[in-house]
Amino acid sequence: MIGIFDSGYGGLTVLKACIKALPQYDYLYLGDNLRVPYGSRSPETIQQFSEDALKFFFNKKIPLTIFACNTASAAALPYLQEKYLRTPNVTNKKVLGVIIPVAEKAARRTRNKRIAVIGTRATIASKAYEKELHKIDPSIRVFGVAAPLLTPLIEEGWHHKPEARSILKKYLAPVKDFAPDVLILGCTHYPIMHDVFEDILGPRVHVLDSSTAVADSLADYLKRHPEIESQLTKNADPSKPGTRIFTCTDSPERFSEFAKKFLGIGDATTVQKVQL
Ligand code: DGL
Repeated sequence: MIGIFDSGYGGLTVLKACIKALPQYDYLYLGDNLRVPYGSRSPETIQQFSEDALKFFFNKKIPLTIFACNTASAAALPYLQEKYLRTPNVTNKKVLGVIIPVAEKAARRTRNKRIAVIGTRATIASKAYEKELHKIDPSIRVFGVAAPLLTPLIEEGWHHKPEARSILKKYLAPVKDFAPDVLILGCTHYPIMHDVFEDILGPRVHVLDSSTAVADSLADYLKRHPEIESQLTKNADPSKPGTRIFTCTDSPERFSEFAKKFLGIGDATTVQKVQL
């Protein structure tokens, strides 16, 4: 089974992309909808919340967990890697975040070496994308924009309304001035507005979704690590191929509304409420 962690509902876009690329595996999704949003919180709080989530997956003996949440990947994953995942004796579990695969894909794609990133306040403040891009190629110039109003607009289903478009235009005005040829959508929710981003930026800017980049890199990772791949199917129930388990920390009803909206699957009876 593969674990997918998000601060709430947005990570369902990543789960959707992973199921599309790798439908044969079982997935356990955890959305911390009690404490969402993470994006406006301090690094210390995001680290604490993400550590609670990581322990949830450790307790379930999940061999591989994806941090689908950009904010948790940016502000907490380096800390958690250091604390739990570097020393081989502490745990043999693996955790992958979204920043590295997305940065690698963006670096491969850019021609003019100007990459913009849009995400939550915490993601942009962490400079996680910038650091990763500079490890790959120090000559790449990076411009980050925090867009805190987009997540609630998308969750309210307003993303195709003129009000959302005009707010996005304001956020993208400095991006246009920077003239990148790649824009990283550094938040789980933004793929839902992908078409509006493309429309405002025009054909010269490639709009890069973190969800598909993560799914592609997961497929590649499993090919390169057969020892992990074999663990994913070790305890699988052959009578239930492709099991999807949804867990959340607050209202399962609200969660299932989003699961239907983002994924087209799931109902309240199949979502389990858990405590972290
Ligand atoms: N999942 C978060 C992200 O990708 C967005 C929602 C939040 O702020 O918690 O950054």
